[in-house]
Amino acid sequence: MNFSCLKRAIVYCVMATSVPLAIARSGDPIITVIPRPAKLLPSPGQFTLNDSTLIVCDYSESRMVQIAEYLAERLRTATGYSFRITDAEHRGKSNYIRFQHINRDKLGNEGYELDVGSRAITLRSYRTPGLFYAVQTLLQLLPAEIFSASARSDVVWTMPCVAVSDAPRFRWRGMHLDVCRHFFPKEFIKRYIDFIALYKMNTFHWHLTEDQGWRIEIKKYPKLTQIGAWRDGSMVGPYSDLKYDTVRYGGFYSQEDVKEIVAYAASRQVTIIPEIEMPGHSLAALASYPELSCTGGPFTVGKAWGVYDDVYCPKETTFKFLENVLTEVCMLFPGKYIHIGGDEVSKTRWKNCAHCQALIRKKRLKGENGLQSYLIRRIEKFLNSKGKQIIGWDEILEGGLAPKAAVMSWRGTEGGIAAAKQRHNVVMSPGSYCYFDHYQGDERYEPLAIGGYTTVEKVYSYDPVPTGLSSGKRKYIMGAQGNVWTEYIQKPQHVEYMAMPRMAALAEVLWSPMGKRDYKVFQDRLLRHFRVLDQLGVNYAKAIFEITTTVRALTTADGVSFELSTPFGARGIHYTTGGEEPTANALQYNEPIAIRKSMTVKTAFFEDNKRRGNIIDQQFVISKSTGKKILLKTPPHENYDDQGAF
Ligand code: ACM
Ligand code: ZN
Repeated sequence: MNFSCLKRAIVYCVMATSVPLAIARSGDPIITVIPRPAKLLPSPGQFTLNDSTLIVCDYSESRMVQIAEYLAERLRTATGYSFRITDAEHRGKSNYIRFQHINRDKLGNEGYELDVGSRAITLRSYRTPGLFYAVQTLLQLLPAEIFSASARSDVVWTMPCVAVSDAPRFRWRGMHLDVCRHFFPKEFIKRYIDFIALYKMNTFHWHLTEDQGWRIEIKKYPKLTQIGAWRDGSMVGPYSDLKYDTVRYGGFYSQEDVKEIVAYAASRQVTIIPEIEMPGHSLAALASYPELSCTGGPFTVGKAWGVYDDVYCPKETTFKFLENVLTEVCMLFPGKYIHIGGDEVSKTRWKNCAHCQALIRKKRLKGENGLQSYLIRRIEKFLNSKGKQIIGWDEILEGGLAPKAAVMSWRGTEGGIAAAKQRHNVVMSPGSYCYFDHYQGDERYEPLAIGGYTTVEKVYSYDPVPTGLSSGKRKYIMGAQGNVWTEYIQKPQHVEYMAMPRMAALAEVLWSPMGKRDYKVFQDRLLRHFRVLDQLGVNYAKAIFEITTTVRALTTADGVSFELSTPFGARGIHYTTGGEEPTANALQYNEPIAIRKSMTVKTAFFEDNKRRGNIIDQQFVISKSTGKKILLKTPPHENYDDQGAF
């Protein structure tokens, strides 16, 4: 008998209460803004947009006007109304949306107030980012169709009256994307930035260089993209198969593309942090310029995932190269931080390189870790001279942290804690909560992924401030970031699948006060928020609809009972017993299924006649022993004892 589902019943939290979908969907008194605002007070009444609704702003404030235009454009697309922008005085009038700056900074640069009354809407903030976030909240208060890409004449554009006063908990609210293992076109990068903005996140960490491809044009070193941006094949299937195709693969962003994307991000209050990896993960650069290595090469751009031994050799020509590259990078990216990588650096070549060993002796460095630290410190000094700060993966702690470096903690939280204790800024990105290349549901039903198991609920449970960090050091935790590495992700739709809805969960971790965090409430809001993602055409994962299964012996001892549940209750679960694919017309699950003969049960969760999660396929082979009492000579390990001897 196949009982492989048994353990999942333990892994997944079975909710005691169920959300009646029909009630949640019509009338909808519950406000579903994600991330959940710090303070939101509903009041009676509603505001309705129509073709005469005006947008009022102060023409002397160009950034305010830009945000007013952004709002008008969004509203026009879906409603078809004109949304004229004006700076005329509107006291005593009605049917307008007004932008205002306030002189109080109590809500910080990113905080805002939003008042939706039945006659007018006011968005207020101290600084521009706050106004932008007020707009995001406003959009999510409207029917989900406001995110439609074309005009909808079938929708009444009302929103509930509310008073919102809101500000983020953390200042670094980031999402990362690896465009090196697989390359994603410029238009998708913009779409990804739109998702970041939708959730009031403010940082896009753009992982631009790798062993498997260099993806940013550098004018001084054209071979980086002529050679380094292309590989002659890629791994196919799981790493352990060690199989490759022979398809030439690559792509890169021109500096014009980069400028366009940086401007697009800025208009959405998103800062881009470019990552230029050093000294490891640099095979694509070495394939282009082998003289930067310890051995001189030759090299080819990486086809296999993983870690390579060939890394930059820290000689003067290499420093000159890195400084020239970074000079161009600094001119393209206006943000304060440049990510210099620093992770997973093999020391093999350095150990056997006469230059590296002589440098260690000459500078009295502590071995190869000291050499890595020497390289990062020199690069920090250079970037500081350009007015930039460095951030690197937590390996940059090894051999001593560069004086002003910020640390991105990915191998758990220890690196982040150590850096904060040394008074360095930290971004938390521990694998078990923040790696969105991990599985998010039962891997039998999910697309091939690198491994791991990081559910939406797990992401939501994260607190970036580690327990045990003294209150004086907590301020160094700038926030956290979700990482999307793309070894197993070839297409934009797959990036969306891995990022969504875990990104929504992380956004709430980073924005909402702890007191507003409640997974059950989030899940309920997320269910309705999926209507927004549907309008945006997002290919989001459905793992939260996964059915949890439990098998027990029948009390009559002549078979088993098959129990099914979802976080949204059992209503909506349909199943078949004859091997055919379940539809919304299949048997509705009301109570545990008694199974007394061999059969295959196929079951899935349906909402509005649409299948939401994967199909669970469970085969039962019933024999004379099924359901009978069993005595074990040796008791099972306690981890396996939940079903007794069943
Ligand atoms: C990393 O995941 N190698 C930072
Ligand atoms: Zn060397």
